[in-house]
Amino acid sequence: MEETLLKLVDKSKKEISAASTIATLNSIFLNIFGQSGTLMKITKELKHLSEEEKPKIGALINRYKKELENAIKKKKARIIEQETKVDIDVTIPGIRPPLGHLHLVTQAILQISRIFEKIGFTRVRYPEIDWEWYSFESLNMTKDSPARDDFETFFIEADPHPKFGKMVLSPHTSSGQVREMERVGSPPIRMINIAKCYRPNWDISHTPMFHQFEGLVIDKSINITHLKGTFDYFARVFFGPKRKIRLRPFHFQFTEPSFEVDITCGVCDGKGCKLCKEGWLELGGSGMVHPNVLKAGKIDPNIYTGYAFGWGIERTYMMKEGLKIEDLRLLYSNDTRFLDQF
Ligand code: DAH
Repeated sequence: MEETLLKLVDKSKKEISAASTIATLNSIFLNIFGQSGTLMKITKELKHLSEEEKPKIGALINRYKKELENAIKKKKARIIEQETKVDIDVTIPGIRPPLGHLHLVTQAILQISRIFEKIGFTRVRYPEIDWEWYSFESLNMTKDSPARDDFETFFIEADPHPKFGKMVLSPHTSSGQVREMERVGSPPIRMINIAKCYRPNWDISHTPMFHQFEGLVIDKSINITHLKGTFDYFARVFFGPKRKIRLRPFHFQFTEPSFEVDITCGVCDGKGCKLCKEGWLELGGSGMVHPNVLKAGKIDPNIYTGYAFGWGIERTYMMKEGLKIEDLRLLYSNDTRFLDQF
């Protein structure tokens, strides 16, 4: 009996170690432990043994049972481990994490800052929440000036200041003009103020938050040729040598004379097309600083003169050659399929 048992266990162990699938192991298990399995058959034989042998063989059967059960369990675990194991090949090139880049408005701000810094302008920023006085009065726009309606300003709900008036979300970067005069004290001043501006508009060419860059140059004997020369330089570097700038007479409260600045259309080269209509695209406003603005900044208009300009960053960037963005709001929709292209 002992011998039969030993042979059986030996044979089973060999089968277990040769098995390569879970299904084979399951059937080996049944062959041993099933109702009519080999080990069960032997267990049934126990009753024919002598009282002496019974406990001895019984104990042996229990030992083998445990051994075989364990062998099957271990083998199953090894098969599962092998099936789920991922081979790592360290020579395969890795997966590069996607690289981000600066938002195109940030890129434009950096480019514009560099172009002006090269000719001696100092980049500054002033508060996005400012007083009415810096946004309007200091710029020669009185309380009842209808021009103020154009700015459709966001007002902050707070008690007004006795001198500076209400607080507003800065509607243009011109509010930095007198702040810069106060900071520098006496000319020369060469400021490039780039900041966020706010007006309640939302359509294909407007977002309620946008950016402007404001130039201000004040010194002795500054005149319109300096203004025009600076714009020509900017246009050449930012847009390329083919594009031309023109000044068109206009009216702003804070400059005298005032101009709208146009640039030849990059699509039709100034001939006239669907985008520009007559060959020109409007960049923004400019002019010679009004004496009252100089006075508000405590600068003597009899000694100093200056020029100023304020243009939208997004607008100006859109006028680069080959760029045709049909809806400006796309810039702020955070859609990486759009942003990835720049
Ligand atoms: N602040 C004006 C606006 O937002 C733009 C502007 C016009 C700025 C003429 C200037 C200027 O500095 O001289 O519409």
